[in-house]
Amino acid sequence: MTSAMSFEIFERQTASGMVVRAAALMPPPPLQPAFRPDWQDADWMARALQLAALGLTTTTPNPRVGCVLVRDGQWLADGWHQRAGEGHAEVQALRALQAAGGDPRGATAYVTLEPCSHTGRTGPCCQALAVAGVHRVVVAMTDPNPQVAGRGLLALQAAGIAVTTGVGSAAAARLNAGFISRMERGQPWVRLKVGMSLDGRTALGNGISQWITGAAARLDVHRLRAEACAVLTGTGTLRADDPQLDVRGLPVERQPLRVLIDATLSAPPAARMLQGGAVVLAAAPLLAQTAVRRRADVLEGQGVQVIGVPASGRYLDLAAALQALGGLAINDLLVEAGSRLNAALLAAGLVDECIFYLAPRLLGEQARGPAALGPFIELQQAFALRFGECCPIGADLRIQAFPSHLPF
Ligand SMILES: NC(=O)c1ccc[n+]([C@@H]2O[C@H](COP(=O)([O-])OP(=O)(O)OC[C@H]3O[C@@H](n4cnc5c(N)ncnc54)[C@H](OP(=O)(O)O)[C@@H]3O)[C@@H](O)[C@H]2O)c1
Repeated sequence: MTSAMSFEIFERQTASGMVVRAAALMPPPPLQPAFRPDWQDADWMARALQLAALGLTTTTPNPRVGCVLVRDGQWLADGWHQRAGEGHAEVQALRALQAAGGDPRGATAYVTLEPCSHTGRTGPCCQALAVAGVHRVVVAMTDPNPQVAGRGLLALQAAGIAVTTGVGSAAAARLNAGFISRMERGQPWVRLKVGMSLDGRTALGNGISQWITGAAARLDVHRLRAEACAVLTGTGTLRADDPQLDVRGLPVERQPLRVLIDATLSAPPAARMLQGGAVVLAAAPLLAQTAVRRRADVLEGQGVQVIGVPASGRYLDLAAALQALGGLAINDLLVEAGSRLNAALLAAGLVDECIFYLAPRLLGEQARGPAALGPFIELQQAFALRFGECCPIGADLRIQAFPSHLPF
């Protein structure tokens, strides 16, 4: 059997040697039956990865993890982590087996992330596997969480359990690009979304942009929001569109945090995204000014969290803004902004992945572009991207691209 995950692998190594990977774009297909006696480690791990992906929209701030228990080539039980504070994938699989009257002794556990060795909100999974009598554990990737970081593998080995690592590691890392990014860089994986016309326009000259793409593409954006821990925009978009930035049209049990970049707190408090809880990132030095502090008090009075971020000149330091979001346990950040904030993030090298929805229409040369970069006088100065996946979504195209100045 080939891997059930059907997307390409994108990895990039940063200057410091850290490797981060692009998150999966397509949700995996429904689980296949898992009762083939000839299945190898990679096949069982593919099933565990499918299980992990069931938590795509729910596990934040925890990683998405799946587990399959197998003995003598026979499937015993499945488990996956569903929500923070609830059982980890290994414990869920052991519970499922117990509930079915099965016996885990002598089993092999296929786990997409190194089992934890520490006691957080739940007990250490290494211990649970050892107590259950599991003989072998196959792990896709080590846990980048400094509290684990290889200690889980050592604890398993110390308990006499045979450990195999690296099976399905690329797909496992892709599922958790955001978690890995936060653990290794202290900031979220940044996915920038743009809906645009075939001539690369994102809004008319008068600012109108709703709707350039079709209903299917817009629903796909709601899926991206559902997978994100937070959605970020700027004051220009807030004024032009008054967006809600929540997930609609899909059954979700959790909404992403709405985040606004607004150095001077100039946004109207009545804006739709500022109702029902949101975060506004403001310039820390300005928050000491009486007028700005008053505006912060109004926002805080309606449940908005105002966070001061270092500013460079008139604007927020966007790298510091991302670190602040990392501090809020944001793994995956979806940027839905206009050309100015997009350009500032791209120019600062802070975007990890772009998703362009391309509609088959032309908006003309008075219309606006996706990123106010430049001016460039040489083609070599152009901001270069590398294509990832491309697929039709309704009447539009969805194109994934990665900033190419970042080494992959
Ligand atoms: N087609 C699409 O997918 C799409 C999506 C979203 C928006 N839009 C369209 O985009 C238009 C709005 O775009 P816009 O460019 O005017 O606004 P914008 O990018 O949404 O907002 C500008 C934001 O960028 C911040 N900013 C600008 N330069 C910065 C820098 N160097 N460092 C840090 N922050 C910086 C500003 O911060 P301050 O507030 O602190 O000044 C502000 O929050 C609207 O017409 C909207 O419809 C289209």
